[in-house]
Amino acid sequence: MPLAAVDAAVPAASAAAVLCSVGVWVPPHVVTNEELARRLDTDDAWIRTRTGIRARHVLAPGQATSDLAVEAGRRALTDADGEGADGEGADGEGVDGVDAVIVATTTPDRTCPATAPLVASRLGLTGAAAFDVAAVCTGFVYGLATAAGLIASGVARRVLLIGADAYSTLVDPMDRANAVIFGDGAGAVLLRAGHADEPGALGPFDLGSDGTHEDMITVAAGGSRVPLTPETSRADRHFAMRGKEVYRHAVTRMTESARTVLDRAGRKTDDVDLFVPHQANLRILRSVAEELGLPLERCATHVESVGNTGAASIPLALADAAARGTLARGDRLLLTAFGGGLTWGSCLLTWP
Ligand code: COA
Repeated sequence: MPLAAVDAAVPAASAAAVLCSVGVWVPPHVVTNEELARRLDTDDAWIRTRTGIRARHVLAPGQATSDLAVEAGRRALTDADGEGADGEGADGEGVDGVDAVIVATTTPDRTCPATAPLVASRLGLTGAAAFDVAAVCTGFVYGLATAAGLIASGVARRVLLIGADAYSTLVDPMDRANAVIFGDGAGAVLLRAGHADEPGALGPFDLGSDGTHEDMITVAAGGSRVPLTPETSRADRHFAMRGKEVYRHAVTRMTESARTVLDRAGRKTDDVDLFVPHQANLRILRSVAEELGLPLERCATHVESVGNTGAASIPLALADAAARGTLARGDRLLLTAFGGGLTWGSCLLTWP
């Protein structure tokens, strides 16, 4: 997708964030349900019935979230540049025109510093603003809103947002309840300043949270509340989730958030060409689509082949829908996510 020029006539204070390109990456190593069943007390039928997942991609030993993020980010920048361009975007700014890099992740390379500065430097963007967003599986939608804010305020004209997660580094490989659900991956979008009424424009947004359920999706130890010690239990070192409760909250919050953002835009579900929910699991997606009165053909599902990839799941689902040829310029997309925190959020996007 060629990078459209930033319109210098757009006053920074009222600029909308406009999608220029999408780039995605999943590590090549695939773990199927059958492979999991060889080491865990589970089976393909249980996993598929409960989650709709058949396989997930997993990082190679020694790799980290930034490795995924760099691959996805590079693809988004290359796509925006027009294949094979010499570092110059369609408006001649090239990667130098990227003012900020945001990485949405729950699995940063290190607790300190953030992963985004390293990712920015590895992409040739040293000097750009760079920071992480921590909103668990809602991270990509929170990142979109943050990028839109940077653009609307005139702080940045072009922002690279990357949702990247490596849950294989956080989930106990022997925990059958969670090891079957999550996969590793990254998805990036390049956003630029533009007009709210042009194809590619994002907005409005709805964001929310409820910290009274902080322990519903959690890693108990390793933060300032419960630092890691040699005595820290295996369970407390790893990702934990109360699946049934998460399921109920996810359906309610995603449905409400989707309705809120449609109301805010003066739209109805009938106006939505494609619903692109966070790919938590197939049953959740189907329940939310049903609650919204959206037929399944208008609900993007990509979870079967990659699992729940956290903050990467929405851009991965977007890229999958684009690759299938199901998206046309001007299509109205509804993006909705839910995750630990609890957090949730939605936004509308017109496909560029
Ligand atoms: N294979 C086989 N059995 C498993 C299993 C697995 N991988 N994981 C759990 N089980 C067992 C449980 O131990 C339990 O056994 P018991 O009845 O003997 O106690 C049984 O299956 C039912 O477990 P339960 O947790 O009640 O299953 P469920 O129908 O609620 O499905 C989830 C579990 C996790 C798939 C479901 O709760 C869910 O989808 N939750 C939302 C998770 C999610 O999407 N999170 C991301 C949000 S961003």
